[in-house]
Amino acid sequence: MTPYVPGKPIEEVKRELGISHVVKLASNENPLGPSPLAVAAVRKAAETMHLYPDASGHALKEALAEKHGLDLNQILLGNGSDELIHLLGLILLGPGDNMVVARPTFVRYEAAAHLANIELRQVPLDAEWKHDLSAMAAACDEKTKLLFVANPHNPTGTVVNAEDFVALLESVPPQVVVVLDEAYYEYAAHLDFYPQGVDLVRSGRQVVVLRTFSKAYGLAGIRVGYGFASPEITDAIDRAREPFDVNSLAQAAAIAALSDEDHLSRSRTLNLDGLLRITREVEAMGYTVIPSFANFICIQTDRPAGDIFQALLHQGIIVRSGDPLGMPGVIRVSIGTEEEITAFLKAFSQVMQSLPV
Ligand SMILES: Cc1ncc(COP(=O)(O)O)c(C=O)c1O
Repeated sequence: MTPYVPGKPIEEVKRELGISHVVKLASNENPLGPSPLAVAAVRKAAETMHLYPDASGHALKEALAEKHGLDLNQILLGNGSDELIHLLGLILLGPGDNMVVARPTFVRYEAAAHLANIELRQVPLDAEWKHDLSAMAAACDEKTKLLFVANPHNPTGTVVNAEDFVALLESVPPQVVVVLDEAYYEYAAHLDFYPQGVDLVRSGRQVVVLRTFSKAYGLAGIRVGYGFASPEITDAIDRAREPFDVNSLAQAAAIAALSDEDHLSRSRTLNLDGLLRITREVEAMGYTVIPSFANFICIQTDRPAGDIFQALLHQGIIVRSGDPLGMPGVIRVSIGTEEEITAFLKAFSQVMQSLPV
């Protein structure tokens, strides 16, 4: 297994390079920070942290069930959606099975396959960097148990449309559980062609939807993921998971964040403005971007991505290199605040002028 490589931490870069101001645009976090309501809820919950958390996460599940018109037994909670990906692998994969994913894709899907010691079938993205859903359906056979579609996709930010996604559900063999990972849902849900995963779960389709509080809700550090699935799958996951995987501070933070529509809407607006600005300014420099519907954007260049990554790092800007993802020449940049974007664009322009083609 390739170890997971997280975005480089700010403190590490300061220490290693001896620079005092570092901007991290590498892990798709919310540049506005958490909702103030979530911070207040965590402070309050800290007073009772000598008690074990509610193992069923009842209040949070109830809030999610009400918001999405589902029953409590259709709601999944996890220590980040990472944990739910891991648990899906644990409950569904066995000897001789296989899993179908895109290439490149979010690396934790691959980990679930490797941990179960099963065959991983990787289907290249199409020419527009989108999931090739018909090729993914064709890659399934009677031993395929799981198929992952991240929508919007990480690392590209592209989106599949509702019609194509339903066609995928209708063409895979019946035992395949299709996981629609909506980690970046809040940034794309307004698109009229966006497949609304929750409606598909409500109508009884064999699909598991994953969501997270780590991105638009700004709670990446406290670890809460959630999802929607059939009662059979939520029951199996409940049996397999650690009973106190979502801690009491995390539950309180998530409930509060869910009620903060204002923070969510400011986060979305900031993101959209940032996406448009980076697109405009990078194109003016003569580079192209992959059109993104998430809180990050991929820039296509004619230089080795690893060199750009290193040169930006020396200017105090942390991004992601496309090299380990098989996207040479591409860097992935999370959308930051206006000041962070200004710093990135200035550094990017300087780096591209100084790096040989
Ligand atoms: C597509 C996708 N799914 C899941 C996750 C995991 O998010 P978390 O475990 O923080 O909920 C990420 C994080 O970057 C992601 O990009």
